[in-house]
Order: sequence, then C-alpha cells, then structure tokens
Amino acid sequence: MIDLLTIKDLTDEEILDLLDLADDVKKSPNKYCSKLNGKSIALLFQKTSTRTRISFESGMYQLGGNALYIDWRTTNLHLGSLKDEIKSISCYVDLIMARVNEHKTLEVMRDASNVPVVNGLSDMCHPCQILSDLMTIREKFGSFENIKVSWVGDGNNVCSSLIIGCVKLNIPILVATPEKYRPHQELIDWVEKEKKSKLVHIYNDPKEAIKEANVVYTDTFVSMGQEEETEKRLKIFLPKFQINKELLNYAIKNPLIMHCLPAHRGIEITDDVLDSNNSIVFQQAENRIHLQKALLLKLLKK
Ligand code: CP
Ligand code: NVA
Repeated sequence: MIDLLTIKDLTDEEILDLLDLADDVKKSPNKYCSKLNGKSIALLFQKTSTRTRISFESGMYQLGGNALYIDWRTTNLHLGSLKDEIKSISCYVDLIMARVNEHKTLEVMRDASNVPVVNGLSDMCHPCQILSDLMTIREKFGSFENIKVSWVGDGNNVCSSLIIGCVKLNIPILVATPEKYRPHQELIDWVEKEKKSKLVHIYNDPKEAIKEANVVYTDTFVSMGQEEETEKRLKIFLPKFQINKELLNYAIKNPLIMHCLPAHRGIEITDDVLDSNNSIVFQQAENRIHLQKALLLKLLKK
C-alpha cells in the first residue's frame, strides 16, 4: 500500500491486515506511542470535519508524531498550480491526507506528491470511514461470516466505499436508494468486473433491503456541497428512506444501526433509533482513530 484513494486499491489481505493492526492498536496503545517519532503529516481540508480531522490529529500525536491542520482557503493551494503546491508540501511532511470536493483532485495530488496521499473524503468515496466501520462490524460479530449489510438512503460517497469494502471481503450488501440516487454506474461496472455481482443487490424499497440484514447503515440525504439541493432531495427521500421504528419492523430482530455521522436527527434517522441499544454509531466514531493510527503505521513504516 502506497496511497489510499479508494478501498479498491487494497487487496482483501491488506484490508484484513490493517484491521488486525487496528485491533491491536486499540488493545495496546502504549506499544505504538513512539513509533512515529519525528514524523509529520499534513491534513488538507476543502470541506469541514469533526471526526476525520480530530482523529487524524490526535492519532498522529498518540503515535509520537505531529499533524498540521491546513484549511485550503488559508494557504496558497487556491492560488497556485495544485501540482506545484503539493510538490512543495511533500518536501515538508511524510504523508498528506486530504478532504476534497472532487475525487480527481486527489489523483492530481497523488501524482504530484513524493509522499503517500490518503483520501479523507471525496465526492466519490470515504475509505477511512468504511475501513474503520469494517473493524466495528468485526468487533460486534467476531467475523464477517454469515452477515448481511444493508444501506438505506443516498447512493453517495459513504455508500460507494461500503459497497467496495463489502465486495472485497465477500459480505452481501443490500442497498435501497431512490431510482435517481443509485450508486454510480462506474461502481456497478467495477463490481461486475470483479465477478461479485451476486453480493450486491439494489432495491427501490428499503423494506426489501433491510429484510435479512444484520446491519442497517444510513447517512445524510444531503452531502456537503449539495446544500442547494436540500429541498428537492428531502421531498424525494422522505418519508420512505428514513430509518425509524416503523421501518425496522420489517427487519430481522434488532439489527445493528450504523451512521458515519454527522447525523441529521429526525431526517434520515429518528432519535429513538440513533439512541437505541442497537445503535453502534459511537463505537464507529471511536474506531476511526484506531484504524487511522494503524493506517499511518503501515504507510509511514521505514
Ligand atoms: N464521518 C466523518 O467523516 O465525520 P466528519 O465529517 O466529521 O469528519
Ligand atoms: N456523505 C457525507 C459524509 C460526511 C462524513 C458527506 O459527504 O457530506
């Protein structure tokens, strides 16, 4: 592994290896507390963040290294050529993590950088989120055997990474989205190319998608950058795609509930479901730091 732009870049062995290391980092943090002494990483943000920013910053500190938070607008990233700016930044740090509007920005960065580049969310995918969610799912079930995951809502960046992660680890994934908000055709083509179409099922009706699922995952109906579409989207997604008690009556008993956060309570998910005993959203949030520490250890090893 040199960069992490999408989970597609990883083999199933690399994913499992990363999850094993993340489990150990979580269990024995002191073992790793000086592994990245003297190393620095740059965290570049075109969009806002709570979990991604703070878990990378704090995680790097816990490994003995240093993280620089860089707001795109307060640097000359918005003035100069992106290639020149990234080439310069990669002279000063050992790794660049970036949250960008357009995925192709990350590809330009990867090609220009002399150090690893990690995707901290793009319009296409959110690999760090889903790698840590896979860690959380394995913690809850002990393995990935005999589980089914369901996605209800927008076929967005988080949904795309969930599909890729599930396909890589042979986990069936049942997706319900409105017709016009399905996962990108390019992703469905990739699933076909991998000969894994049997694992991915797309539905219009959330009741169908959650029927056999052990895990029900949702995310906002309006991602960052889509704010102008809010009214139109909410009319299409509500009430059918909201995760609430009534919808969960169609699921097996007590499926685990996942959400990457930030949640819009009362929109894509109701308070009672988000705060229920089956909700593992804060275990998901916590595991971001353990997984990303493992990722930094892998990418920055000498
Ligand atoms: N889930 C997630 O990436 O959260 P932030 O947008 O707060 O980083
Ligand atoms: N789909 C959301 C995820 C936020 C972590 C967004 O892109 O805004």
